[in-house]
Amino acid sequence: MAIISNDIAQAVSLLQEGEVVAIPTETVYGLAANALNAVAVAKVFEVKNRPTFNPLIVHVASIADVETYSGTFPDQAKRLAKKFWPGPLTLILPKRNLIPDLVTAGLDTVGLRCPDHELTRELLSQLGFPLAAPSANPFGYVSPTTAQHVQDQLGDKINFILDGGPCSVGLESTIVGFDDGATIHRLGGVAVEEIESVVGKVKLNLHSSSNPVAPGQLSSHYAPKKKMIIGNLQELLARHYGSSVGILSFKTVYHGENSFVLSPSGSLTEAAQNIFSMLRELDERPVDLILSEFVPEEGLGRAINDRLRRAAK
Ligand code: TXA
Ligand code: MG
Repeated sequence: MAIISNDIAQAVSLLQEGEVVAIPTETVYGLAANALNAVAVAKVFEVKNRPTFNPLIVHVASIADVETYSGTFPDQAKRLAKKFWPGPLTLILPKRNLIPDLVTAGLDTVGLRCPDHELTRELLSQLGFPLAAPSANPFGYVSPTTAQHVQDQLGDKINFILDGGPCSVGLESTIVGFDDGATIHRLGGVAVEEIESVVGKVKLNLHSSSNPVAPGQLSSHYAPKKKMIIGNLQELLARHYGSSVGILSFKTVYHGENSFVLSPSGSLTEAAQNIFSMLRELDERPVDLILSEFVPEEGLGRAINDRLRRAAK
């Protein structure tokens, strides 16, 4: 089992020694290593069982670090960083050579993000190097939003989990690239409408394929082990009458101990905070099937529906 603690000093020394440490962010917990040390980064891929064609996001302490690790800062990217950093936004920018190829899977771009979590910002400011960190879950499974989630799945493979409490956003960062005008590669914690309020109309490149730009685009990702079906819950319940089902609804309360409500008040922010932990809970319950419904397709709801869709594949 890993140590779960909020002792930054211990995280600092492990990371300086080239070890991996799970860290809290406002989106989901990350599995972090020194992004400038390829040997340390290799451990991240190994612990996560992640294919090395899948690049990692590099977490930085401030906007000033973009110059150090990218050197190219298009105007649109700069405006987005000024507005949403620290926060749930990853910018895909040309990379400098000091970032090892393993981090970026050989791409000539790097995903940079300044996370909005007090402990991790303090950690980054003490380290003096950036942290490469994917979500701290086995590849393909639901992302962790508490230290205990990380412990449950990776606790026997890592030594230390920096505990920053439950994640305040609960969905991964929104990924934006700038190849040909601003393009969203993964829906996430900053809504499309918010991005567009800064840079105008953006393109969406969210197609699932076997060779995606962002594996968050893989059609089955963020997925529980149980079969999951999304639709009209009344109809689904009627169709599966007599089966042992778990329910994940948006705001309607269904009776039964295997029923979860994302947000009784109908808040998309609250639904985002809850989705991954509720999917995990349902996966552990003695049910054969998970039934769910979409949330309104607006704001954060688009990213929530994206995760529901992939969970159901
Ligand atoms: O909120 C988040 O982004 C969390 C926290 C820990 O920061 N991290 C996260 O990492 O979700 P991960 O590895 O689970 O997802 C990162 C996504 C992957 O889909 C990866 O392909 C994409 O970012 N990505 C990273 N670098 C890229 C690059 N240079 N070009 C395109 N996509 C990139
Ligand atoms: Mg992930």
